[in-house]
Amino acid sequence: MITIIPTILVKNFQEFKNCVKKIENDFALAQIDIMDGKFVANKTFFDIEKISSIKTPLNYELHLMVENPLDYIYKVKGNKKIKKIFFHYEADDNFEEILRTIQSYGFEAGIVINPKTKLNGIKKYIPMISVIMVMGVYPGMGGQKFLATTLEKIKKVRKVSEAISIEVDGGVNDKTAKKIVQAGADILAVGSFIYDGEPKKQKEKLLRAIRE
Ligand code: DX5
Repeated sequence: MITIIPTILVKNFQEFKNCVKKIENDFALAQIDIMDGKFVANKTFFDIEKISSIKTPLNYELHLMVENPLDYIYKVKGNKKIKKIFFHYEADDNFEEILRTIQSYGFEAGIVINPKTKLNGIKKYIPMISVIMVMGVYPGMGGQKFLATTLEKIKKVRKVSEAISIEVDGGVNDKTAKKIVQAGADILAVGSFIYDGEPKKQKEKLLRAIRE
């Protein structure tokens, strides 16, 4: 089964609420893109108290594009709306501590690999996680073109593990989705394409493109 996860990449609380309204009835979970202006040049809105005050059936996963993932992880301890936390392999040297902290808080932990990340370094961590995120673009902003080299990366990860979920983020649309799924991905995190029309219809378009 293929899961589509809309991303929320916004500058303020109002935009966050607008986004939630658009997607809350058609998706179970959304990805919050968190950028600190250091690990990547952009900065996004993230205030867990404000976000938790929104009444919505939507759950969240966090995509931490930040220099100090632990600072953010400590802040969301115990939050029931958050199900998964992703952090970048390159973000911090305390890799194992970050992983253990996320898991000890009861969240699913995922590693993100960038287009340039070599698989060798992370192979040994794959048995410790249930999901890996393969970036289809360099992180930092939405609306970028999918890098075709990502397909090889997905295939390689799939060879390492049949069991792991592979989530692909960046550049996913009705032209790229099928190839991404054929390469071995089973979760697609989608920004621009989902909001480029009515999210429910865009999701159906994407699923149709995968089936055709
Ligand atoms: C990119 C972000 C993505 C982004 C995807 O740095 O990590 O989550 O929202 O956006 P699109 O689908 O527009 O590439």
